[in-house]
Amino acid sequence: MVTKYISVSSSKGGSGKSTITSILSTGLLSHLKRRIAVVDIDPQESLIDARKAELKEIDNNPPKSNSLIYQTILKNKENTNQSFPDFFKMSLYDDFAIIKQKLDSLNGKYDFVFLDFPGSLNIHSNTILLLKELDYIFIPFYVDKNSRSATFKFAHSLKELKGKGMLKADFHLFFNQFNGYTGKNGSSFKVMRDFMESKKYPLLKNAIYSSPEIERYSTIVPIKVGAGIKNPYHLLEEIYNILNLNQNE
Ligand SMILES: Nc1ncnc2c1ncn2[C@@H]1O[C@H](COP(=O)(O)OP(=O)(O)O)[C@@H](O)[C@H]1O
Ligand SMILES: [Mg+2]
Repeated sequence: MVTKYISVSSSKGGSGKSTITSILSTGLLSHLKRRIAVVDIDPQESLIDARKAELKEIDNNPPKSNSLIYQTILKNKENTNQSFPDFFKMSLYDDFAIIKQKLDSLNGKYDFVFLDFPGSLNIHSNTILLLKELDYIFIPFYVDKNSRSATFKFAHSLKELKGKGMLKADFHLFFNQFNGYTGKNGSSFKVMRDFMESKKYPLLKNAIYSSPEIERYSTIVPIKVGAGIKNPYHLLEEIYNILNLNQNE
């Protein structure tokens, strides 16, 4: 098995990196039966904390056998021998040789390894070395003025690295906290979409809308498969296609 390394990254804190990492990792495990690890590189440990809280809740209130969480864990275990995505901790400030060794130790054991970078990604030398290890980068994009320029700078750096042959990752941008092209911030999203198209930035067709379901994401239970226009499943499907995965495999 060749492990693929993925990151939902941007230089902008609060853009939804950890949230979408969780949605993608739980989705790939439950929807597509892939073995998944998530490496939390954020010193704030937002994903590790979220997982700890969920496990504590399970401990305090053992879920009934008909509950969603119980059924998810049971099915995951049956399908992949994994109850939920495995979590690991890594420090960006370790020697890169140590970081690389940890990453390599996951190679072959998982289909996909997600790297969740810190809130605001500084282009620290280890960051660049780590970005070079990735096969796929998905960049969440929100249109307020600060996020916009920070995200473009990040995307531009990736484009430059790729142009110089220093990055192998396939990278794509997508809108997060999107509410359509007519609603709140709609015209800004439209301007951004046109700009990205004109500059040939790879923008995903589907976007993630703001929703309470996303806000209270789980590190165990995937989002529901559904058809409504605002359902985040559309974006997952688009990403599954990019990863060359077919639902019916
Ligand atoms: N599509 C969305 N709908 C609702 N809330 C969202 C959405 N995306 C992100 N959030 C919220 O925004 C905040 C920051 O998201 P987070 O994933 O922690 O960002 P990052 O990891 O990039 O710092 C969180 O409170 C999260 O719940
Ligand atoms: Mg985060």
